Amino acid sequence: MTGVTAGSLDAWMTTQLVGVEAALDAWVTDAAVPDLGWGAPTGLTQAMRYAVLDGGKRLRPLLTLAAYEALVPTPGASGKSAAMRAACAVELIHAYSLVHDDMPCMDNDVLRRGKPTVHVKFGEAGALLAGDALQALAFELLTPDDGSVPLPVQGRLCGVLARAAGSTGMAGGQAIDLASVGHTLDEPALRHMHQLKTGALLHASVMLGAICGQAPEPVMHALSDYGHAIGLAFQVVDDVLDVISDSAALGKTAGKDADNDKPTYVSLLGLEASQRLAKELLTRAEAALQASGLANTSALAGLASLVVQRSH
Ligand code: IPE
Ligand code: IPE
Ligand code: MG
Ligand code: MG
Ligand code: MG
Repeated sequence: MTGVTAGSLDAWMTTQLVGVEAALDAWVTDAAVPDLGWGAPTGLTQAMRYAVLDGGKRLRPLLTLAAYEALVPTPGASGKSAAMRAACAVELIHAYSLVHDDMPCMDNDVLRRGKPTVHVKFGEAGALLAGDALQALAFELLTPDDGSVPLPVQGRLCGVLARAAGSTGMAGGQAIDLASVGHTLDEPALRHMHQLKTGALLHASVMLGAICGQAPEPVMHALSDYGHAIGLAFQVVDDVLDVISDSAALGKTAGKDADNDKPTYVSLLGLEASQRLAKELLTRAEAALQASGLANTSALAGLASLVVQRSH
């Protein structure tokens, strides 16, 4: 594994983020589709753009691009374009999950990414539809009909993302989350909920990059272990930050889990044990990168540290 310094990770992230922001800006649009002759209704597109642009750490797209570059250090244009589509697709699913997560029927939150939530700004129906449309747009991105992404790759990307988003992934985890309000879960049950509601999409982010980079099976396996470890670590840290940070730093309402009586790692294990667990998961992620045998894992290693050491 090549070493990663804060400076080199920052430089890598800055470059990637420029590409991600430009791609999201171009793809979440109401421009007319040539085959149809009409574009999306302006109000709906506005809500979608509001949900996606101007905010967010973009951790999921960065993971996709880092996994891809671990396999293809000097990408040609076509592979890079598939990876960028996959990176943006997972961010769209994530953005949709946040829009719905914040709605009054779920966590009932008014602040997200430092702005009023989508339902506050566009109404509940607007938020519901923006989420629906973002989810569909993710799969549109993965299935271009210009030959730039081979059909078998399109199929694999869609399968991985659909499973991570659906009833055995994010949506399933969110259902468990809502059903668990006011209950104490034991650690295996809490871990299962976190792995589904948050871990699944983070794991998929890594897998999408690995598919674009045509990872051989043993590498796929190691990257999958890495994805599972950081996926769980991410939500453990989210639970911790909800307690130790403030709304200004987080860009979302701090203290919301206790207010909503949600079972979390902090409520189950306490702060210190939760922070210890996050560090153990980081060690597991690093071991998985070693096991992958890949030479160019510095961005993946840096992102894993960021997941655990972040302040928002
Ligand atoms: C927040 O995710 C929701 C969870 C899955 C815990 P992020 O912390 O990645 O949110 P953004 O994308 O940076 O806003
Ligand atoms: C949300 O978990 C996970 C999602 C699938 C969106 P949280 O409800 O803890 O996320 P935040 O804290 O509101 O971002
Ligand atoms: Mg929630
Ligand atoms: Mg929430
Ligand atoms: Mg949270």
